[in-house]
Amino acid sequence: MTITPSVGACHARILAVGGYRGSRVVTNDEMCTMIDSTPEWIEQRTGIKERRWATDEETPLFMAVQASRKAIENSGLEPSQIDGLIISTVSHFQQSPSLAVYVAHELGLSAGPAAIDISGACAGFCYAAGLAEGMVRAGSATHVLVIGVETLSRMVNMEDRGTAFLFSDGAGAAIIGPSDVPAMGPVVWGSDGSQALTIQIEDWTRRASSEPGYPLISMDGRSVFRWATTFIAEKTKEAIEAAGLTPDQLDVFIPHQANNRITDSMLRHLKLPESVVVSRDIVHMGNSSAASVPLAMAALLESGEATSGQTALIIGFGAGLVYAGQVVVLP
Ligand SMILES: CC(C)(COP(=O)(O)OP(=O)(O)OC[C@H]1O[C@@H](n2cnc3c(N)ncnc32)[C@H](O)[C@@H]1OP(=O)(O)O)[C@@H](O)C(=O)NCCC(=O)NCCS
Repeated sequence: MTITPSVGACHARILAVGGYRGSRVVTNDEMCTMIDSTPEWIEQRTGIKERRWATDEETPLFMAVQASRKAIENSGLEPSQIDGLIISTVSHFQQSPSLAVYVAHELGLSAGPAAIDISGACAGFCYAAGLAEGMVRAGSATHVLVIGVETLSRMVNMEDRGTAFLFSDGAGAAIIGPSDVPAMGPVVWGSDGSQALTIQIEDWTRRASSEPGYPLISMDGRSVFRWATTFIAEKTKEAIEAAGLTPDQLDVFIPHQANNRITDSMLRHLKLPESVVVSRDIVHMGNSSAASVPLAMAALLESGEATSGQTALIIGFGAGLVYAGQVVVLP
């Protein structure tokens, strides 16, 4: 007896992206009515001038669906052709079912795709993209909708002035499908659970009765900063090498939008040529965690700063600590 294995495509690529940002603009001035800080301090230390927060109506489901509709439209695919759906989120407050099944239903994905959530924090989109790339090449799915969506503004602790100003709300979606030519390099990913307490969202069962409300984020910002500018900076190099390229062959760099100073430090580490387009989406968006990389990618393509067919390095990193990055051809 021989079991028939699945047979996939030779290569995978990002076919399209789409984004949706929380509609409420929260400037640094407004932020400083909520925390003990100054607009100048926030901008100087992070690059952030304003961030986008979701209204009550802009739930993770709503934003994920809006971003996905744009990605599906941009791909030219019929919704029925999507047979895989992976959502990375830490903002879906129902343990089960997953947000993915709600999104699949709302989008009318009539194939009834394989649909799951993952918890990859700020690395979530790049993790999910790595999984989707493997699914397409293995033949377990043909077109995978990958979404990063967060409403972290609901979980920031306004008593913590070192963290509250960073986070924002939005959704970014991409469709990953077959390609005739190589268009996604090997994903370089990993984790370090010994640093699990460095960034965390508190255990929600502890808040259940006496203190209703969302669980809150806590973070040791200095440790994250040090890790990102040393260990993760080195991982950016590894992702480029894994794709068989050198930094000067990149056109675009889309790091997780955590802090412009982290991005600057990575640029120095990689010695990227001046000509490389670097995403600074954080300035007007803040850190939208799993949504940040696809939102930044969609923005660069929409503004014309980056174009289809260019080679980009994407990398996400965050709570876990976890990271994932890969070289991709832009859709
Ligand atoms: C959060 C972050 C911006 C803080 O910047 P920083 O330069 O590291 O600041 P520090 O925490 O070292 O604090 C420096 C000083 O500013 C003060 N400070 C902290 N937050 C402040 C605020 N909002 N406004 C004014 N002062 C503030 C601190 O109290 C400290 O004062 P002290 O020197 O008198 O003790 C920075 O650490 C960071 O971006 N880390 C990475 C976080 C991240 O990316 N997390 C998500 C990853 S997915």
